[in-house]
Amino acid sequence: MTSVKASDNEIILIGKVLNNTNEPLKKRFRALFTLRNLGGKQSIEEINSCFKDESELLKHECAYVLGQMQDELAIDYLIKILEDESQQPIVRHEAGEALGALGDDRVMPILEKYSTCSISEIAETCYLAIKRIRWLKESKEEVSENPYKSVDPAPPSAEKNIEKLTTTMLNEKEDLFERYRALFALRNIGTTEAVLSLSKGLFVGSPLFRHEIAYVLGQMQHEAAIPSLEESLRDPLENCMVRHESAEALGSIGLSKCNNVLKEFLQDKARVVKESCEVALDMSDYNSSGEFQYANALLST
Ligand SMILES: [Fe+2]
Ligand SMILES: [Fe+2]
Ligand SMILES: [Fe+2]
Repeated sequence: MTSVKASDNEIILIGKVLNNTNEPLKKRFRALFTLRNLGGKQSIEEINSCFKDESELLKHECAYVLGQMQDELAIDYLIKILEDESQQPIVRHEAGEALGALGDDRVMPILEKYSTCSISEIAETCYLAIKRIRWLKESKEEVSENPYKSVDPAPPSAEKNIEKLTTTMLNEKEDLFERYRALFALRNIGTTEAVLSLSKGLFVGSPLFRHEIAYVLGQMQHEAAIPSLEESLRDPLENCMVRHESAEALGSIGLSKCNNVLKEFLQDKARVVKESCEVALDMSDYNSSGEFQYANALLST
């Protein structure tokens, strides 16, 4: 990754864009990604200020980014969000996941507490985070690097057989952590066959599980996933967290047939879906133009 250096004053200026409700959402997202890449205490504080916003989409992305930055300075902020019942479930879920991504076992008691939360997305996320932190400790293994450089909620399974991985991933009686491990192993395999197997997962299991499938299909940016992602976005009865992730995945695939579907949902009744389509269409524009142009543009204004 290219690294861009910025002074605290410049970071504060980017934070102003992130926290300005009059700015278009896509510009605020770009500011968030810039802060993520710059890192450090000031960036974390600017991101934390955004949790008072009204957009659950933007706030959940803030929580996600704080986990990906891998800086323990974010831990206390993330605990507050996980505990805050006035925050939407998708935001609290992402805060729980970020705590798992940071991998610090001091947060175990709080994760234990929320692993029995009545909101299933939050409970399952905390369960996975506990399992991940224990795995890091017990296996003494480093999580192998994945082609997407993301810090994932579970390490990939060592199994390489697509059929076996698919069976485990789709088996609703199997432990959720093991199903996630199979899911990430399939993603890392990355072939069309793996994409088609993963696509089946979009229609089984809990909303959390389905949204993770959509998320990895977005990372893979493979055309073979389009029909399933489209079906998921089009289903009015599907959970909005899943539809949101399917929309963003279509945006990262970025072909014109994906964009046409996204345009249809720009006025969706669910705000998180509507905003996802807006941001997804912007992503698909900028995928071709190179990420750091945004960092540079923001720093030069
Ligand atoms: Fe999520
Ligand atoms: Fe996530
Ligand atoms: Fe998301």
